[in-house]
Amino acid sequence: MVQPLLALRGVSKRYGAVHALDGVDLDVATGEVVALIGDNGAGKSTLIKIIAGVVTPDTGVVEFQGRPVTIHSPHAAASLGIATVFQDLALCENLDVVANLYLGHERLIPTVGRLGAWLDEIGMERRALALLRELAVKIPSVRTPVAMLSGGQRQSVAIARSLIGEPQVVLLDEPTAALGVEQTAHVLELILRLRDRGLGVVVVSHNLSNVLAIASRAVVLRLGRNNGTFVLPGATQEQLVAAITGATDARAAAATAAPSSDEPAGDE
Ligand SMILES: Nc1ncnc2c1ncn2[C@@H]1O[C@H](COP(=O)(O)OP(=O)(O)OP(=O)(O)O)[C@@H](O)[C@H]1O
Ligand SMILES: [Mg+2]
Repeated sequence: MVQPLLALRGVSKRYGAVHALDGVDLDVATGEVVALIGDNGAGKSTLIKIIAGVVTPDTGVVEFQGRPVTIHSPHAAASLGIATVFQDLALCENLDVVANLYLGHERLIPTVGRLGAWLDEIGMERRALALLRELAVKIPSVRTPVAMLSGGQRQSVAIARSLIGEPQVVLLDEPTAALGVEQTAHVLELILRLRDRGLGVVVVSHNLSNVLAIASRAVVLRLGRNNGTFVLPGATQEQLVAAITGATDARAAAATAAPSSDEPAGDE
């Protein structure tokens, strides 16, 4: 791979006696979707939180554009150009789509005298419309309160919101977990549009057919460790399941490696 946009090297994190992550590596390049997969408790969300600046690793290096960086806070992650859509989305139900897109990034029009500044409602609405059109997100109106949107529409608004700060990397934790078939298809298309805009995208998902449909690589975590990286297309769902459950110890294996059966099936 050419120089990755984002690279993690030997990242470890303990919670007391629990080794949530143990020497994990991850690479994300410009314009690619990397799927981060693994069983419950494998360490996926912990890894996302480390990149998002929510959790501090005990050891290991995070490199952004080839330089080692310390991501102390979500603000530091955003300043680097890393945006995260957490599973709970954190949208404000009572606010409309424009207000949610610009929450914390409000555009202001300066005024004279002591009036302070006005919210640039027209400018924000115009840009919200343009962004949602560009991403082909379909909602009744940008003035619809989020409470009235479907799960897929909310997910799309949350993903669109992550783009307001013009990030280079977007992290998505389980973006299709609560969605129906059609809504899932829309969100997967949206993720491919992020990739086509040149972003590096990391998607956590338990849905392997989704992973196979959109990712160019699948990175498997098992019990806090790397257990194989698979180049896609080229790996089967069965190979991914074997790496996830521990039926194969694929830590050092290449995408094409034949499964070995020297380890019993998963115990999670
Ligand atoms: N704040 C915390 N305090 C203590 N232990 C934690 C904390 N966060 C995570 N862990 C532990 O670290 C391990 C990895 O958790 P993590 O949430 O990263 O897993 P995951 O792969 O995202 O799982 P899931 O698929 O269920 O979301 C688990 O054993 C979990 O119990
Ligand atoms: Mg998780």
